[in-house]
Amino acid sequence: MASRRLINPSRRASDSGSLPLVGSLHQKSRSSPLLSIGLVVVAAFFLIGYSLRGSGGFASEKEAISIGQGVSCSLDVIQAMPILKKAYGDSMRKVLHVGPDSCAVVSKLLKEDSEAWGVEPYDLEDTDSSCKSLVRKGFVRVADIKFPLPYQPKSFSLVIVSDSLDYLSSKYLNKTLPDLARVSADGLVIFAGYPGKQRAKVSELAKFGRPAKLRSSSWWIRYFVQTGLQENEMAIKKFEEASVKNSYKPSCQIFHVTS
Ligand SMILES: *[C@@H]1O[C@H](CO)[C@@H](O)[C@H](O)[C@H]1NC(C)=O
Repeated sequence: MASRRLINPSRRASDSGSLPLVGSLHQKSRSSPLLSIGLVVVAAFFLIGYSLRGSGGFASEKEAISIGQGVSCSLDVIQAMPILKKAYGDSMRKVLHVGPDSCAVVSKLLKEDSEAWGVEPYDLEDTDSSCKSLVRKGFVRVADIKFPLPYQPKSFSLVIVSDSLDYLSSKYLNKTLPDLARVSADGLVIFAGYPGKQRAKVSELAKFGRPAKLRSSSWWIRYFVQTGLQENEMAIKKFEEASVKNSYKPSCQIFHVTS
């Protein structure tokens, strides 16, 4: 985005720089009407070209800004850590995080004295050395969550999933969500994007495979009922109380489901 902003003004400066030149030629040519008509035509071409190019530049700049606004729910998970601890207490002892930036979430959980594992559903190509080390030690694994998770039932006390469900069609959601509930003993926390917020950058679409399908909270709640998952009323209440106390305002919607 920064480079776009730098490129545009310089391009505009050179364009407008050419306009006074046309103007001065026009003044000198008063003697010949034919030549001046020709120059007016040339000037008109310059002006049309300039305005088309200008508007084109503006449109792509605007697009870049609205796409670049995407926020990761995984960041919300990290910020929610003290709230989750208050809401879940001892259920935070053995946590599985599923979602992008799982390395960051897992290292945060490990610092908070939880046992923690992560499933990163997307490529980990340009990652830092601490993430590589988490992968090497088996704390974080890269796995396609369209397939069953390689864990025994109730392997974790709590499963936290962020962003990744937004990228599943309902066909795969129908398989993955019950599977996440299966590997959890005490519950499942879902961080999902709000509809109307474009999240992934165009450059990341290849990584996620498809654009995010952001569902409304009423859609999710109806979906839980249809799939036989129950919302965890106790966790919802405690989470809300702690959120108010800590002035925690997530940018994603959060659901608490029993397993
Ligand atoms: C997924 O599950 C929902 C709720 O049970 C159902 O209405 C829907 O048809 C299913 N979708 C697919 C693609 O199987």
